[in-house]
Amino acid sequence: MKIGVIGGGSIGLLFTAYLAESAHEVTLFVRREAQQQAIHTMGLTVKAGSSAYTCQPKVCLLSETGRNDIDVLIVAVKSYDVEHIMPEIIEKFKNTRSILFVQNGMQHLRFLPHFKMHSIYMGVVEHGAMKESDHLINHTGVGRTKIAPYLDGHSGINWEKLSKEKFPFFYQNDWYAMLSEKLHINAVINPLTAILRVPNGALLTNPHWLDLMEQLSEEACKVLNIKYHEAWKDLVAVCENTSLNKSSMLRDIENKRRTEIEAINGFILNSAKGKNIEVPNNRFVYQIIKGMEE
Ligand code: PAF
Repeated sequence: MKIGVIGGGSIGLLFTAYLAESAHEVTLFVRREAQQQAIHTMGLTVKAGSSAYTCQPKVCLLSETGRNDIDVLIVAVKSYDVEHIMPEIIEKFKNTRSILFVQNGMQHLRFLPHFKMHSIYMGVVEHGAMKESDHLINHTGVGRTKIAPYLDGHSGINWEKLSKEKFPFFYQNDWYAMLSEKLHINAVINPLTAILRVPNGALLTNPHWLDLMEQLSEEACKVLNIKYHEAWKDLVAVCENTSLNKSSMLRDIENKRRTEIEAINGFILNSAKGKNIEVPNNRFVYQIIKGMEE
């Protein structure tokens, strides 16, 4: 199968390396020539514990390439870039019928009706991954990629067949349940760890921070219409399983990059407004992160 991956960040590199390991023909599409050159000359390496694996995927500049032979496209750019990348996808991948989006949050969904000609899938990535350089990625926690069809996404792809031991795929039917459960987790862990500058597990160790978690969680559950007790259990489990990891929002703040606050707590604020639900804690963390970005 010919697979295209758009995005040279940690998740894009992780997908590229593991799918290339399964002998698929994988092409990575990146924005920067420096990254293209780095992977071209040194290969793409994934470190996982004490082992390391290097592959040699094709790397193209997205701005230069149109491809009519890609079967599956995996869009692994940040949520705020989906809108900008959309015209390029429509123009350059005309024959691609299956597209998987693996962004945090739900803000990007509003751009997807434009993709009527494709089978669209949503993905939730539970792996821990840190990009150490343009061609080196550290797989810090083996998780799963959950995939669900979105709208009429039924191109017949057997996603679970793409699974590797350290990179499994799980197919689900309900994209809304899948995305809202993950959004709830991100809406609590990401802003709090970024504001407090602590790893995920530290949130559970302080009663005052636990209290903040509960308040953010209750608001998010109300807005997303998910059951609080189950969602809370999942949230605590993610904090425990990724206790030493820094959340993506904390890493964005530390590296002075734009965060995904709009796609996460911004989405909660917008939905709350439409439903007349008060979300003061989500508004509070949203404002703090926006201020930190500036
Ligand atoms: O965005 C992240 O960092 C991750 O989705 C999560 C689950 C919060 C773990 O760090």
